[in-house]
Amino acid sequence: MINGLMTLNGAWDKVRTDPIIRMMVMALAFYGMSTFEGPMMSVKSVNSLSHYTDWTIGHVHSGALGWNGMITFASVYYLVPRLWHRERLYSLRWVNWHFWLATLGIVFYAASMWVAGITEGLMWREYGADGYLVNSFAEVVAAVHPMYVLRAFGGLLYLSGATIMTANVWLTILGRQRQETPLRQAAYDATADRPLVAVPAE
Ligand code: HEM
Repeated sequence: MINGLMTLNGAWDKVRTDPIIRMMVMALAFYGMSTFEGPMMSVKSVNSLSHYTDWTIGHVHSGALGWNGMITFASVYYLVPRLWHRERLYSLRWVNWHFWLATLGIVFYAASMWVAGITEGLMWREYGADGYLVNSFAEVVAAVHPMYVLRAFGGLLYLSGATIMTANVWLTILGRQRQETPLRQAAYDATADRPLVAVPAE
């Protein structure tokens, strides 16, 4: 993750101006997050709570949608105009829409699954004084129902982003170009463009 982020040294303004790079940076951030969460979940005491619950599903999807999904979308956006010899994508603004829909979608998805997972883990391990479980399975499902609604909403956002990408890629392959104003027209500032120069250790 650090290697990926440091590759941007001296070109961080691209995160503002290029939605494809922004997608790659977000992919790296989710990579970092899921590979931080993973080792934590592999600790015995944490796993005794998280195992079988939706926490695992949240972890899986921050990796699958955030890391694998985002880096794949960004690669597709980068490759398609080159493979089909097109000057540019049909629309960069649509890429921007896709970025925000996907990012918000994952946030709703993962956050709701964390809450659902911890709720399930705690409710399942609750014993009464008589030694019986306090909560039935159906009660636990009812408790996490609102989280499932949020998860569905997040998934819908993510899916609609992917639909926009499909249309964008298809129109690019057809050779169409959307007439649109650039996302940002920053004037070039030579003083701000300072790649870090390696300084030997003393
Ligand atoms: C250092 C990195 C990672 C570690 C140590 C790790 C560790 C774990 C742990 C402890 C679980 C829960 C196992 C259980 O309770 O059943 C899990 C589940 C899972 N993780 Fe990760 N994870 C890492 C990164 C990732 C990434 C980047 C992805 C996806 C791109 C991913 C995908 C999954 C999947 C699909 C499962 C569910 C497996 C199943 O239950 O069948 N993990 N991981």
